[in-house]
Amino acid sequence: MAADKNVRVLKDAPALAQAAAEMVMQCATAAIAARGRFMIALSGGSTPEAAYEIIMRDFATKGNWAKWFIFMGDERAVPVDDPRSNLGMAKRTLLHGLPIAPEQIFAVHTELPPPAAAADYEKRIKDFFGYAEPRFDLILLGLGDDGHTASLFPGLSARHESSKLVTFSPPGTLPPPVDRITFTFPLINLARKAVFLMAGEKKKKVVRQLLSKDVNPELIPAANVHPIDGELIYMMDQAAHG
Ligand code: 6PG
Repeated sequence: MAADKNVRVLKDAPALAQAAAEMVMQCATAAIAARGRFMIALSGGSTPEAAYEIIMRDFATKGNWAKWFIFMGDERAVPVDDPRSNLGMAKRTLLHGLPIAPEQIFAVHTELPPPAAAADYEKRIKDFFGYAEPRFDLILLGLGDDGHTASLFPGLSARHESSKLVTFSPPGTLPPPVDRITFTFPLINLARKAVFLMAGEKKKKVVRQLLSKDVNPELIPAANVHPIDGELIYMMDQAAHG
C-alpha cells in the first residue's frame, strides 16, 4: 500500500465509528471557528451509519447545531421515508434528535425524475454558496466492494462527469437497484476535507486496490477522489486494512 497516503487504521468497527464521530465534531468546531458555519455532505452506507449513531449518543448536547448545514453526497431515488433513503437513514440515526432547523438540511428532491432532481440539487448548492466556490468543509464517503464511492460506479458514465456538480446514475451492480443522484468528482474534489470510512473484512481487497499507488481509477472510481486544495483521509478498521 502507498506509504504517502493519509491512512488511519482503527482496531475494529466500533473504534472506527468512534474515531469518525470525533473527527466530524472536530472538523465542525474548526470550520465554525474559522468561517462561522459548517457544511457537511453525508454518505449512506453502514460504516457512516455507525458514526452517526455515536455522534447522537456522545455529542448531541455538545454541537453548535445552529451553524451546521447538511447535504447528501449521494441519494437513492426513493422517498425519504423509504428504508433505502440515505437521508432517511441519517434522520433516523442522527438528525431527528438534534436541534437542526429544516432549512439547514438539504434533501435531494427525489420526487422529481433523477435528471431533474440532480439539476435541482446542483442549483440549490450553487444558490447556497452564492459567489463562493462550493467547498464543503467535510465530505464523508463510503467505499463499495466494487470500488464505487458516492454513486459513482465502475462502468457507468456519472464517474466521468467533468462539468456538473451533481448528476444522476442508474444503479450499479450492488444493491439497492434504484437510480441515484450524486455529487460528481469535480464537486467532491473541491472539498476542504474528504474522508473515506471503510469497515469489514469484505472491503479488504478493494481497500488494497484503492490504496495501491498503481490503482486504476477507471476500475476503482473512488481513486478519483483527490481534493485540489484539501485533505484526503482514509479511515478504516483493521479488518478492512488487512
Ligand atoms: C450508497 C452509499 C454508498 C456507500 C458504499 C459503502 O448510497 O449506497 O452512499 O456509496 O457508501 O456502498 O457502503 P457500506 O459502508 O455499507 O459498505
